[in-house]
Amino acid sequence: MSSGQAEQTVTVRQDDEQHESLTWVVACAVADLPDGEMTAINTEPPVAVYNVDGEFFSTADTCTHMKSSLTEGYLDGDQVECALHMATFCVRDGRATALPATVPLRTFEVKIEDNTLKVRLPASWVELA
Ligand code: FES
Repeated sequence: MSSGQAEQTVTVRQDDEQHESLTWVVACAVADLPDGEMTAINTEPPVAVYNVDGEFFSTADTCTHMKSSLTEGYLDGDQVECALHMATFCVRDGRATALPATVPLRTFEVKIEDNTLKVRLPASWVELA
């Protein structure tokens, strides 16, 4: 990688931070999301959190195919299946893994603090909720 490419990457990151302020939001108590379960957070748009064998992940809750709620579908390992047309996504990286969806889900950073699961989301999504 040339030094010119590295400078371009830094510039993109600065742009993202300037245009989108992120904030930590409480999703749920860790005890309320057992292994193999998922739930939606009441933000606008809604966000999903998942427990995959004790690892926690977060993605947009809205299927990128035709806007169905993914938490109304099925979680199998690290794959969430949309109940409407059965597209699947990997909750680790948001990648679409089965048609008809082809566009990935947005993913979010998660952390556990005081037995509470928190997700880092755009502040504007929380203000509208
Ligand atoms: S709305 Fe999810 S697969 Fe069609």
